[in-house]
Amino acid sequence: MKRTAACLISLSVFAALTNVAAAANASNGQTLAKRWCATCHVVAADQKSGSTQASPFSAIAGKPGFDEHKLAFFLLDPHPRMPDMNLSRSEAADLAAYIGSQK
Ligand code: HEC
Repeated sequence: MKRTAACLISLSVFAALTNVAAAANASNGQTLAKRWCATCHVVAADQKSGSTQASPFSAIAGKPGFDEHKLAFFLLDPHPRMPDMNLSRSEAADLAAYIGSQK
């Protein structure tokens, strides 16, 4: 009985860990970026232009000290000059992973 319980616990810990690893999905981030961010930001190399005030995602990724985790948190916090996107944690992580992939 004890062994079964221990086994179940380690299985659920394993499931939780793989969930975290699978949480950031750059290709889903790309879909989200094209849908929600492309009106202002240049989100991909094949995009011609965005708003002049918003940095292209490749420039954001190229900043010194760029950190995907910090970016994901930044995206959850409504930004003064950006509309509040109401992103979920996993959407923010996916977007950050996508932006990070443009380094
Ligand atoms: C309505 C236009 C608009 C939309 C839509 C928009 N942004 Fe922005 N974003 C801006 C502007 C303008 C700035 C610059 C803000 C500033 O300098 O204070 C900015 C800044 C940022 C920054 C910080 C850049 C830096 O240099 O530190 C990030 C990251 C960012 N946006 C990500 C996103 C993501 C991801 C989305 C889509 C979910 C998005 N934005 C959608 C206008 C927009």
